[in-house]
Amino acid sequence: MGDLVLVTAIGALRERRPLIIEHDGVPYTILLKDGRIEAYINICPHQDKVFKPRLKDECLICPFHDVAFDVHSGKVVDSNGKTVRAGLPKAEVLVRDGWICLVTNERHRSLLEQAWARKKERGARKRKWSWTSLFGLGGKKNGDR
Ligand code: FES
Repeated sequence: MGDLVLVTAIGALRERRPLIIEHDGVPYTILLKDGRIEAYINICPHQDKVFKPRLKDECLICPFHDVAFDVHSGKVVDSNGKTVRAGLPKAEVLVRDGWICLVTNERHRSLLEQAWARKKERGARKRKWSWTSLFGLGGKKNGDR
């Protein structure tokens, strides 16, 4: 088991009112839905962006491109035409003596660092593409006009 982080008293968490917290630089959403407490790491698997989810019906929505994730499983419900490599990463929560505790571990921080690395790599590919196209070095093939 990882570290227990005290989040809030059980009575302070309202149904359908997600609570956004950060621990060790990792952003989390804790929410109560249909009497169940769920916790997610707020890194969108579409473009590895840290995001603040919006709750709509049975889904958590990333505001950047409106990809929808199931509120209980984190699975992609509607990709909105985007390629999304995975569902929303879940975290574990426990209730101890009337307090909601988040169970954190090194995997959470590592997910954030992996997301940063992918984002950086995408940024580098994009920059390379724009420089090569700017100077006409895009590598035309035979038959290209
Ligand atoms: S970054 Fe979240 S939907 Fe695109």
